Amino acid sequence: MAETNPTDTIETALANLRDSFLPRFRAADTEQALRDENAKILGKKGELTAILKQLGRAPAESRKAIGEKVNAFKQEVEAGFGSCLKNLQRLEREAELSAPPFDLTLPGRAPVLAGHKHPVAMVREDVVAIFRQLGFAVFDGPEIEHEENNFTRLGFPPDHPATDMQDSFWTTSGKLLRTHTSNIQIRAMTTIEPPMAFIAPGTVYRRDDDATHSPQFHQIEAFLVDRNVTLAHLKGVLAEFAERLYGPGTPVRLRPSYFPFVEPGAEVDIGCVFCKQANQTRAGCNICKHTGWIEILGCGLIHPVVFENCGIDPEQWSGFALGMGLERIAMLRYGIPNIKLLFENDPRMLAQF
Ligand code: DAH
Repeated sequence: MAETNPTDTIETALANLRDSFLPRFRAADTEQALRDENAKILGKKGELTAILKQLGRAPAESRKAIGEKVNAFKQEVEAGFGSCLKNLQRLEREAELSAPPFDLTLPGRAPVLAGHKHPVAMVREDVVAIFRQLGFAVFDGPEIEHEENNFTRLGFPPDHPATDMQDSFWTTSGKLLRTHTSNIQIRAMTTIEPPMAFIAPGTVYRRDDDATHSPQFHQIEAFLVDRNVTLAHLKGVLAEFAERLYGPGTPVRLRPSYFPFVEPGAEVDIGCVFCKQANQTRAGCNICKHTGWIEILGCGLIHPVVFENCGIDPEQWSGFALGMGLERIAMLRYGIPNIKLLFENDPRMLAQF
């Protein structure tokens, strides 16, 4: 058998490849398939590369001519690949453009960090709503307050520890960040004629900072002035308030206590909402410290001196006042152990409400 001429072998292989490469490119229907096909021809282990390797066996005088042919063919393949690629990309773009603008079958994306009402805001809204239903109007007032309204007219003696540098944030002399919402009692009684019934929600400030105290916190004050107001009226409002906030049958008790602006003064406990064991001999859980009762506010009958300090005749008028901390009520309602959790605004915490 005559030995095959290497030049002929190369020529035949080239001719075969020339006939087949374009149909092969055109048959590829994705960009990846086209690139794979291209690699099969031009890649390191590709068919044209294999042909080139045989060039060394061709006679020296024909090598140059074959080499040129191979190079020209290589450019043909590259051009073919280029135009097929463009074509595929155009088709893809056209398909994209003529498809519906969105895929209605895709599941919706859940909002990752939705906004939430803050627990203190929720409690405030509930408390305000209850007192409004009971006929109280809402009174607003400044957070930077005269010493007069925050302390003096409320009957705080000048040396009272609350007026101390330790407990209040003083701004300029005679003014401070109000330490409670009781200032609103004075502002109301010096501007409005009795009878009156108000609540005053607001931000208050004290130099206090631990697990259950924060230098800035929130209170709601409620007060009512009319003729012949007695402790019975106060107790009736408290019982109604407790039932509406904590549910029917919530027990309420008053313990005598002292505040300069009320006489008598009292602290109000409700039956522990967690263990519900008020009035039982072996009461309690950790939250009520095994007493069965939880303190929620301070209250009393408005002191005659406070009326006089506001130009109201205590012989004609009487009233009650109460004040509560909203953080405390929110912590009790939601079992939040540390007041700082209410102010850090960690979305993981807020998302639980
Ligand atoms: N102002 C008091 C406080 O911040 C709370 C308070 C107690 C308000 C008795 C009242 C009241 O109106 O009668 O601790």
